[in-house]
Amino acid sequence: MTTDTAAAPAPLPLLVLGHGTDLHTERGVECPGDLPAASDPDLVARARAAKAALGDSVFVLGHHYQRDEVIEFADVTGDSFKLARDAAARPDAPYIVFCGVHFMAESADILTSAEQTVILPDLAAGCSMADMAAIAQVEDCWEQLEAAGVAGRTVPVTYMNSSAAIKAFTGRHGGTICTSSNARTALDWAFEQVGGLEGDGKVLFLPDQHLGRNTAVRELGLTLDDCVVWDPHRPGGGLTAQQLADARMILWRGHCSVHGRFSVEAVETARREIPGVKVIVHPECRYEVVERADEVGSTEKIIQTIAAAPDGTSWVVGTELNLVRRLAAQFPKQRIAFLEKNVCYCSTMNRIDLPHLVWALESLVEGRVVNPIRVDPQVAADARSALDRMLALPGTTAKKD
Ligand code: 13P
Ligand code: SF4
Repeated sequence: MTTDTAAAPAPLPLLVLGHGTDLHTERGVECPGDLPAASDPDLVARARAAKAALGDSVFVLGHHYQRDEVIEFADVTGDSFKLARDAAARPDAPYIVFCGVHFMAESADILTSAEQTVILPDLAAGCSMADMAAIAQVEDCWEQLEAAGVAGRTVPVTYMNSSAAIKAFTGRHGGTICTSSNARTALDWAFEQVGGLEGDGKVLFLPDQHLGRNTAVRELGLTLDDCVVWDPHRPGGGLTAQQLADARMILWRGHCSVHGRFSVEAVETARREIPGVKVIVHPECRYEVVERADEVGSTEKIIQTIAAAPDGTSWVVGTELNLVRRLAAQFPKQRIAFLEKNVCYCSTMNRIDLPHLVWALESLVEGRVVNPIRVDPQVAADARSALDRMLALPGTTAKKD
């Protein structure tokens, strides 16, 4: 690459996706690793044929971050809460093909019957956030909370983006799972278990510090000082006994490697460059970013909000790029831009592509089950109690008052 040191750097263009865009400079398109076209044009026909042959025996779930080529074959799409509910609501389907990431497929396995099999088309579709909390680290943290005398008034609340083992830990310790669409309700419930918000009870929030902080401070009215971060790589989580005793939210030091990259500068640039723009972000974004947004919500809420907005509204969206590009295509009367030039697709979500989906479906047609996700029965039973608590929470969508 050649650079002209004499010339002032050109400001980065913030171009809208959709109508009248410049595909060479459009945000997100310039990121390395842009998706190649489906490798084999026959794959679409093969996927259709395999699905038709399988009929009602297979139910395909697609998370909103999946590629278009995969979403096309999903029987339902949704955020992680909706997909968990949808998986549980199809006891008649012997095979659930989960187009999403590993923790979602595990949750579907836990919520479906022993006769049903959940398939993840590519086992490498993990989640970097879920990997930031290992069960041994979480058990160790709890032992230290016990030693510090605070575990008795602490309830674990675990984000769906976590391993089955950590969901099981949560179930064993009387806690609940939450997703980005019900985190506020889950936290309300959890604090009620330990004397309410006015008392001195605590929540251990795993593994996304940002969702925990955003919900506690912005929706429950706790302060930033009420939140401490437990670093599993430091002795005692890097916290003093006093900090632990004073804290109301003990946030695990985990984050999403995609959403963690949306920046305050990107929000400010969007506001400068797009008159009247509305900024909508996922609550996995950092607190400073969420504070500067107009709207915050799960993937499902982002879609609903943009769908309900008047024509001609301008949006910049801080969430995964597959979804943002699809929104731009689906709502051409809105001006929809991607928030951050330095953010790429979620690489693990993108592991599920048409070749893997076709392989999973055609294998089923041939009577072979590939990549089944089977959670150990004891782990599943404990995790189920935490998931059932979530499914029983009053209301399903957290809204700001
Ligand atoms: P949603 O629950 O909003 O679908 O989010 C899941 C996820 O992984 C976001 O990164
Ligand atoms: Fe995990 Fe982030 Fe990808 Fe969601 S977007 S699956 S939290 S890495």
